[in-house]
Formats: sequence, C-alpha cells, structure tokens
Amino acid sequence: MSAESTFSVAVGVTGASGALYATRTLAALLARGTRVELVISDYGRRLLRDELGEGAAVERLMPFLAEKYGAGVEAGTINLHSNRDMGATIASGSHGCRGMVIVPCSMKTLAAVAHGLSRNLVERAADVMLKERRPLVIVPRETPMSLMQLRNMVLCAEAGAVMLPAMPAFYQMPQTLDDLADFMAGKILAALGFEHNLYPPWTGRVQR
Ligand SMILES: Cc1cc2nc3c(=O)[nH]c(=O)nc-3n(C[C@H](O)[C@H](O)[C@H](O)COP(=O)(O)O)c2cc1C
Repeated sequence: MSAESTFSVAVGVTGASGALYATRTLAALLARGTRVELVISDYGRRLLRDELGEGAAVERLMPFLAEKYGAGVEAGTINLHSNRDMGATIASGSHGCRGMVIVPCSMKTLAAVAHGLSRNLVERAADVMLKERRPLVIVPRETPMSLMQLRNMVLCAEAGAVMLPAMPAFYQMPQTLDDLADFMAGKILAALGFEHNLYPPWTGRVQR
C-alpha cells in the first residue's frame, strides 16, 4: 500500500456540464488506492445520468467505474455522503482529508465557495479546505462568463484554491471524449499532488 492511500480525498460533483470529468477523476483516484469522500449535489446527480446514462446513477457508480475504467478502481473506496449531512466527517477540519476537488463546479457552487456560505456539504467541505490551508481544486464550467463569475473565481484563487477550468488542451491530439477527460483528470491529480500518466508529458513537439 502506498503512502498516498493513507489519505482520503474529498470529491464534490455539482450540476455543471462535464460529468465525464468527474467519473474519470474518481476512477483515477480510486485506482491509486485513495479513499474518496464523495458528495454529489442534486443537479450533480442529474448531470451524471443525463450525460453518461442511467448506468452512471449514484447507486451504481462503482460498477459503472469498474466497467468503464477497469477493475483497478476497486483498489480504492468510495464513502458517499449526503449533501445535506453537515455532520459528515469532511464538514470538520479535524478530519484528515488530504484535499478536495469540485468537478465539475457549477457557477452557483463557485459563488457559494467564494463567499463562504457553507449551505451544504460540498460548500462546507470546500470552506474547511480553505480555512485549513489544504488543497482545494475547483473545476468551473461555464461559457461565456459574467463579471460576477469571473470575480468569484478570483476570490477563490485569492483564498488559496486552485482554479482549474474545464479547458482540455488539443495539442495531445485527442481522439475521443475520454482523451479529453483524461487530460482534465490528469491536471486535477497533479494539482492534488498525485503522480499520474493520464496524458503524456509535453516533449516540445506535437506527437501525431
Ligand atoms: C443539463 C444542465 C446543464 C447545466 N450546465 C451547467 C453548467 O455547465 N454550468 C453551470 O454553472 N450550471 C449549469 N447548470 C445549472 C446548474 O445545474 C444549476 O445552477 C444548479 O442549481 C447548480 O446547483 P449545484 O451547484 O448545487 O449542483 C446546468 C443545468 C442543467 C439541468
């Protein structure tokens, strides 16, 4: 068992487009033996089903991940929390969570984190990460963006969050949607301090 597996990582999934980024990130964390503290908002649950099909419904998430990304995901565990449970472990700074990613992050949740509202568990766990000075990675998705949305990103960055917009690159010559999701998940894992091989390192020229 690696040292990484002794830590847990919180994953918040909210109702922005890009559920595939969430499942790829979950699978990559799990394959590293991570204990994932998972919280999914109501609209996050809807987007999982809308964009990935009924098989990706929360109740069937682990089998979905194993089928799509391989049995290696079973090296890790998912601890699913209700977004209404403000008494969950990750609502407290005393819980030793290594960091958190909100992927994808809606503009609503972004605004709430920017202003420290803590109205639900995704928002509270993010607030805990900021106050404890632990890594918080926010993956916003919206376009175009209003001035308030841009300012909310600045507020989060000023508070210490890593703003990691859902902006996959194309110099890796992606062939599939999964290639795009691999790139984003790799960026997220790197921001959380994990090594990964989800995309090849840039070699100075495009590899065709
Ligand atoms: C199909 C669909 C796609 C959506 N896509 C986005 C999006 O890309 N970005 C965003 O900020 N909100 C998006 N929304 C709106 C959010 O889901 C909505 O603001 C919701 O209240 C967010 O709540 P949550 O942050 O608690 O998940 C979408 C909603 C639906 C139904």
